[in-house]
Formats: sequence, structure tokens, C-alpha cells
Amino acid sequence: MDRTVIAIDGPSASGKSTVARLLAERLGYRFLDSGAMYRAFALLARRRGVAGDDEEGLAELVPEARIELRGERVLLDGEDVSGEIRTPEIDRLVSQVARVPAVRRGMVARQRAAYPGEPLVVEGRDIGSVVFPDARVKVFLDASPEERARRRARESHRDVRNVLEEQRERDERDSRRAHSPLVKAAGAVVIDTTGLTLEEVVERLLALTRDALRSRPGEPSTGSSSS
Ligand code: C5P
Repeated sequence: MDRTVIAIDGPSASGKSTVARLLAERLGYRFLDSGAMYRAFALLARRRGVAGDDEEGLAELVPEARIELRGERVLLDGEDVSGEIRTPEIDRLVSQVARVPAVRRGMVARQRAAYPGEPLVVEGRDIGSVVFPDARVKVFLDASPEERARRRARESHRDVRNVLEEQRERDERDSRRAHSPLVKAAGAVVIDTTGLTLEEVVERLLALTRDALRSRPGEPSTGSSSS
């Protein structure tokens, strides 16, 4: 690989998006939210009336899925769907469609083709393990389920118990699926963000990145793990 990639994986609401965005901004790198691609695909499936368990129907949709990420915005067939992909309904559907191998292949190809040649911060579930296994820095961000549910509930003004229950189901589906489950990639540095401020997490990632960029290309980062 001839570009610098920082891979940030972890479960839902572990703080990945905010942290990855800030890190990209500080480094002057592009930011890629791979979950937004799966979400846009789930929305497409819903609009076309293809069910989450209809593997064949979903596979047929892949070639025609026109998904573009433009900074903060997500476009589906040229339409801005940034708000529509973040509803509880899409939360439920997305981890179902993300289990289908043909869907994953399609999204992974799009992720690898994004911003050719430019340095990237990419966040998701399988970035360090599957999408960019040669990433210069691999981080697995985690936080306790309760802390993650509290964060989500605060953001979405929902009841924390409902969020916790849905989150448990989604985590389980993401971790148990046969293809590219959520795992800590080999060589990933685990950071537990419970009790850490956003700034503390970003600082830690910046330090890891600087470290990795100082070491020789191809040499894995040797940042210390906090867990
Ligand atoms: O990160 P976010 O919560 O937006 O991701 C939505 C869903 O997309 C996840 O629950 C997971 O099912 C799927 N996903 C994935 N692989 C990725 C990123 C997201 O399977 N790299």
C-alpha cells in the first residue's frame, strides 16, 4: 500500500466517529466512515422493499448502489440521506444487510477505491482486519456497554434502557456474523474510552500516529495499550 491509512475499529457508540473525524482534521487526512456506506445501502434496500434476510435480493442491489461520501454528507443516488440513515429503523436493518457477503464485498471495494492515493482515517468494524490490513496504525476503540448506551441515548434523546437493548442485539450480530465480524485486528492497539475525554482519546491517537510515521515504513506501530 502506498498511502498512510489509520484504521479505527470498534463497537457502536464507542466514540469512533467523533474521534476519527477529529483525528483526520488534525492530520489533514481524508475521513472515511465505512458504517455510513452500510447504512446508505440499508436505506436503499428499504426503499426498494428488499428485506434484510433476502440475501439474493440484496446481492442484486449491490451493483446499482450509488453511494458517495462527501465529508459529513452521505449521498444515495445523488440525494443527501445523511439524516435518514441515522434512524432507529436503519440501526436495526443495517447489521442484517451487513452480514451478506456480496454486500460486504461491494462496500469493501468502494472503501478501498475512495480518495485514491490520499492519506486516510477510516472507521468501522473490519478496517484493520479486512479492508486495510496493511494500515500504518490500527486502533480498537472500546467502552463499556453502559457508557456507550448512555452516549447514544444522550445524542438521540431516547430511553437508555431501549438503547442498551438494541445495542446489545447489534453488537451481537456484528460480532457473531460469519463474514468479517467485529474483531480486534492483529496488531491493533486497544483503547478503552470509558472515563476518557474526547480530547484525551484524540491525543493518544495522534501520539500513536506520530510514532508510527517515525518508524520505518512497513514496521508496525508499537504504541502501548491502555487495557
Ligand atoms: O458505525 P455504524 O454504527 O454507523 O455502523 C453501522 C453498521 O454497519 C454496523 O452495526 C455494522 O453492522 C455495519 N458495519 C460493518 N462494517 C463496517 C462498518 C459498519 O459491518 N466496517
